[in-house]
This record gives sequence, C-alpha cells and structure tokens, in this order.
Amino acid sequence: MNAHTPIAAALPFAVPSSRWDDVIAASLSPAELLLYRSNLLGSDLTVTNFGGGNTSAKLEELDPLTGAKVEVLWVKGSGGDIGSMKLDGFATLYQAKLLGLEAHYSGPDDDDKMVGFLPHCTFNLNGRAASIDTPLHSLLPFAHVDHVHPDAIIALAASSGGQAATQEIWGGRIGWLPWKRPGYTLGVMLRDYVKANPQVEGVMLAGHGIICWADSAKACYEHTVKLIADAANYLNRKLAGKPAFAGQAIAANPDRTVIAADLMPRLRGFMTGARQKLGHFSDDAEALEFVGSVDFERLAALGTSCPDHFLRTKIAPLTLDPTRLQDDAYLEEKIADYRKLYAAYYGRCKRANSPAMRDSNPVVVLVPGVGRITFATDKTTARLAGEFYGNAINVMRGAEAIGEYIALDEQEAFDIEYWLLEEAKLQRMPAPKPLVGKIALVTGGAGGIGAATAARLLRDGACVVLADRDAAAVEEVRSGFARQFGKDVVRAAVCDVTDEAQVQAAFDLAAREFGGLDILVANAGIASSAPLEETTIELWNRNYDVLAQGYFLTSRAAWPLLKRMKAQGGASVVFIGSKNGVAAATNASAYASAKAAANHLARCLALEGAPHGIRVNVVNPDAVIKGSRIWDGDWRKERAGAHGIDSGKELEEHYRQRSMLKRDVLPEDIAEAVYFLASDMSAKSTGNMINVDAGNAQAFTR
Ligand SMILES: NC(=O)c1ccc[n+]([C@@H]2O[C@H](COP(=O)([O-])OP(=O)(O)OC[C@H]3O[C@@H](n4cnc5c(N)ncnc54)[C@H](O)[C@@H]3O)[C@@H](O)[C@H]2O)c1
Ligand SMILES: [Zn+2]
Repeated sequence: MNAHTPIAAALPFAVPSSRWDDVIAASLSPAELLLYRSNLLGSDLTVTNFGGGNTSAKLEELDPLTGAKVEVLWVKGSGGDIGSMKLDGFATLYQAKLLGLEAHYSGPDDDDKMVGFLPHCTFNLNGRAASIDTPLHSLLPFAHVDHVHPDAIIALAASSGGQAATQEIWGGRIGWLPWKRPGYTLGVMLRDYVKANPQVEGVMLAGHGIICWADSAKACYEHTVKLIADAANYLNRKLAGKPAFAGQAIAANPDRTVIAADLMPRLRGFMTGARQKLGHFSDDAEALEFVGSVDFERLAALGTSCPDHFLRTKIAPLTLDPTRLQDDAYLEEKIADYRKLYAAYYGRCKRANSPAMRDSNPVVVLVPGVGRITFATDKTTARLAGEFYGNAINVMRGAEAIGEYIALDEQEAFDIEYWLLEEAKLQRMPAPKPLVGKIALVTGGAGGIGAATAARLLRDGACVVLADRDAAAVEEVRSGFARQFGKDVVRAAVCDVTDEAQVQAAFDLAAREFGGLDILVANAGIASSAPLEETTIELWNRNYDVLAQGYFLTSRAAWPLLKRMKAQGGASVVFIGSKNGVAAATNASAYASAKAAANHLARCLALEGAPHGIRVNVVNPDAVIKGSRIWDGDWRKERAGAHGIDSGKELEEHYRQRSMLKRDVLPEDIAEAVYFLASDMSAKSTGNMINVDAGNAQAFTR
C-alpha cells in the first residue's frame, strides 16, 4: 500500500428507525398488534437477524371452558421467524399457570425440567410449542416485552467494554446481566434484577442480546428500535475514521468469484459424511473487510458469541491460506484437521448423557481476499449460516471498537449445541427428501422435458441449474420454480451448448452458486426433418452441433466436478436420447444419426466414468408432444407430412395408436426415468438405456 492510499474506514452499523404506521395499527386487534410489531421488527434486517428474537404480549382472553376473563401470554413459539410469522406462530399460555410453575423450580439444574411444564400451561389447545425463552416473558411483570439480537446490541453484549458502554449510552436506564444460557433460571435472574432495579427500561444480556418492555405495542416497538439506534450510533462514533480489525492485510482479489467457483467443488469433495453439502459463497463488504484484515486469524479462532450465531456456524470457522488454494493435499488436510479439532472439542466437553457427536465438517470457510463460503446439507441452511457469520463479523467489529471481543465459553457453547432438548427436536425432524444435498444441471431446462425433469429433481430436494440458450424462457421457468420450491434451490444460466465458453460458465455458476455438481442431465435439443437429398450441410451441422457436440461439451465440462464426488457415492449423467437414436427414421437422417452418436458417446463415457464413480445412462423418449416446444414448430408439420396426416389432433392420435401401449408419452414420464437414473435408486446401473415411448418394438435395445 503506498502512502497515499486512503485507509478504508470501518463499515458502519445500520441505524434503524421506526416504521410504525398508525393508520394500519388502528384497525388491528391486540393480538394482531403484537403480530404487526413482530413482523416490523423481524423483517427489518437492521433490527435483527433471521428468526432473531421473540416478542410477547399479555392479553385478556375469554376462557373457552369457563367463559371467565383470563390473562394469556402470547409469545412467539418455538422455531420460525418473527419477520414472516403469522398469528399461528404464537404460543398462547395461561399467565397465572406460568407464574405458578415456580413451585416446581428449585435451582439452575431444573432448567430442562421446567421446559416440560410449559405445554401444561397451554391456552385454547394451541398446538404451537412454547419456546425456551417463554419464562423471560412470563416472569417480567410488563404487558409488552421484546427480546432481540441485533448486531449493534450483541456487539456491546460481547465486548469487554460492553458494560461500561451500556452505562455511557443509557446511564442506568438499561441494566446488565452476566451471560446465562436461556432458560427458566435466566428468567428468574431477570425478574429479580428488575425488581431490585425498578428504574430500568430494559436489560442487556451479556453475550446474547437485549430484553425491553413498554405499556403498549407501539411504545414497545419504538423503544426497541430506539435502543438499537442508540447502540448503532454509539458504535459508529467509535468506529469513525479508523479501519476495522486493525486495518487491511490482504486486498480483495479481483478474481475472487472465479477462485470461489474453482475452490468450492474441491472443498465439497473433501467433506465426506452422510450427505453431500451445499455451498454458499459471499464476497460482500463485511466478509471481505474481515477476511482481509490484520486481526482476522486471531478473531476467527475465537468463534462466535450469540447462541443464535453459534448454533448456525459451529464452534469456529475454518480459515485457509489464499496462496495454497490450488493444493488439493493442503485442502484435504485442512478439512481433516478441522474434523479432528471438532472431535477433540466434543471429547473435552461432552457429558455423561450427551448425544453422539454430529457432523464434524466445517460450516464456515474463510479465505483472505476471496470471502466467505458456508456449507450445509441444504442450500437455505448454508445461506443462513453465511448470513449469521456476517452478523458475527459485525459483532466482532463493534465489540473490538470498544474493548475486546469475548466469544462464547467453549463448555457453554457445547452445552447449547448438544442440549438434550435440541437433540430431541432434531430427532423429531422428518427424514430429508432423497435428493437433498444433490446438485443437478439440466441443459435445455426451459423446454418441455428439461423443465419437467428439473421439477422432478427439485421436488425431491435437489438444487438445480437450468441451462438454456433461450434467456427469456429460462428465466420464466426459473422464477416459477423459485415460487414453487424456494428461491434458494434454483438458478438459471443462459447457455448455448454449442459454445464452449458459455458451457464452462454454466458449470462455473453451478460450482459458485451451489458448490459443485452431482447430476448432469444433457437434454438441450432440436429436431429437424429432411430427405437425404435436401439435407444441407448447414442442417446436418446444426444437428451434430447441438445433439452430438453439445452433449460432448457439457459432459466434458461437468466431468471434473462429477469426479470430485467419488468418495461420496459418485455422480450421474443422464442423456436424453431419442427413439430415433436406436430405430431408423425416414426423412430425419441428420437428427437420428446425431442422436445415435450421442447414445454411443454415453456408452463410451460410462466406460470412462466408472473408475471415477460416474454413471452414464440414457433415456430415449418418443413422441412427447404435449409440453414440448420441438412439437410447436416445423417438426410437427414435417412429421405430419412424412406420415401423411394433418398436424393437429390427428398427429397425437397417430402417435398414440403407433405405440404398443396406445398411450401418450408426457414430459413427466421422461422425468420419472431421468429421476431413477439420476438418483441412488440406480446406483448399480451404468451404460444403460431406458425407452420411455409407450412401447416401440423397433426401438427395443439389444
Ligand atoms: N419431444 C419429443 O418427442 C422428443 C422425442 C425424442 C427425443 N427428444 C429429445 O428431448 C430433448 C428435449 O426436447 P423437448 O421435447 O423438451 O423440446 P423443447 O424444445 O421443449 O426443449 C428443448 C430446449 O432446449 C433448448 N435448446 C435448444 N438448443 C439449444 C442449445 N444449442 N443450447 C442450449 N439450449 C438449447 C431450447 O431452447 C429448449 O428450451 C431433446 O434433446 C430432444 O431431442 C424429444
Ligand atoms: Zn435470545
């Protein structure tokens, strides 16, 4: 850095302001006001992180049994996100019964036991489980209570200078409680603290967040927002004019997205375990500021602080040397070392009744100059882990600006991670869908068979890249799937399979967006019809370019990614061939022979792929008329002409009657065969063809 290069100033904390709308609020019931306030808080990421925190109100209700007026605690239930929750996301409990629970409490060892009593306090048969934080809300004698974990607040809560800063900012209006794991004991500590300090309007919970209250929903919301703004403004004053984390050591690499695309599949390949991992890459300003800083290694090693962050990101991230990313042995060793460190942590901290050790692979991988990569068994979890680590970075930046950052104590972290009630929750979770963890790329993904195949894979949990040369169509299909299956699991790449660079870019996108590839469906295709003497070189080449060379180019680009998955059960390539690749066709020699070339390419690749755990199989469709765009165009008229019939309903009937089973073949039927060949259901099959054509004796394979 030369003397004139300005030192980049630290990123500031976002300062929230009230978004309360009296007009909206005027028409809401008391419970709806609680929901409105919760959604306002939770949907503002300057206020709180995803899912973060919980809100409550003590409302008067009519007891369904006695008709008497009773006080009911409405409190955000277990799981879910306050930003997007609905009224059914609240647990409702008799406040009098909650207060009566104290008779069962004799000290901190009873925390787990107390959770078991909560369902006994349920009001109105509400099935929503009450969260572990319920005692915090019930034991405080205030009508409206908010508990949130915004970055600016945790920065104070997780700093050696936090208590002094709290005093400086709020001068005794906000109290301070030392770290205590959430549970009934924390509720009692809080209640007693507030009784002894009646002037406080809220309490900082060290290493965790804040809890505050007011007499109305609006006042409570605005109080919460104001406290966060106070903390953010204070930290911004402390950070002003200085770089964060003692300044920059390594500048952001301009090629970082290319590096990430190259690195992620290799890391994913080394993360062996029960399931494949999905990756998520971010090079946002927070990530780059942190990973490139002087203090990076020291702070990363400390791990995260707030339990919310910690549960998502694991005890500590894996950090990599950016000069050694090309070295596979180095990467493999780093991941193996991480697993050993994790096992050692488990060994040190485990208790007699701890659940068995969970997946020991790293969740967060940090690379100076490149950014932050997170891995999890599904894409949304990987993305959220990254976002939580982003929150943790903000916390560290603020905490270090006013003192020293304090991470969660190792044993405390372990007790949260391996908490028996948390384990019970995990055990209750339904088994993941069969393709969760798998990444597929479907060429021609905007077309009839391609889109149906992608939908089939998405339905069973795969992440899918749709690659198609038709930009508008592929975006339309992507956005439809994003609505149906979630925006995290599907991406679109505009890619002509005859263009080497575009093909490479599509696979780079799969690597960067998801972490690699397990399944290739080579499907992009065209059809043409012409007698031999009318077959021009141009027509001949067009068929061979897309159907033969296109399948070759996509397979070749997929290969290095697929090879990475050998240790994890291997990978699968499925070619969409054609009946005409097996059975001769009149007036379609270019198309049919190109399809035959692709089918034979599949067999060659099956041979070459086997040592790498790559299976290659073919699905041969025939006469998939509904939904196919091939059949919208000239092909329809040409085929009708070749069979001497009209190109409307008669054509469909013709093909139906021509089939042995007398049935239509739909894109979904092809998708089902692709699904079988793509999934582990066909783990022992390679070099095969499945005809999906309602029966055609000419195309019988032999
Ligand atoms: N529909 C049938 O009856 C039938 C029968 C046998 C084989 N097939 C094969 O099935 C596959 C899919 O066909 P479909 O019926 O779904 O047709 P479709 O036209 O609905 O879909 C094909 C898709 O591939 C895309 N595409 C074409 N050329 C491309 C290129 N160079 N690069 C990237 N994308 C390209 C198109 O934009 C389209 O979205 C093709 O390989 C086709 O030969 C179809
Ligand atoms: Zn909390």
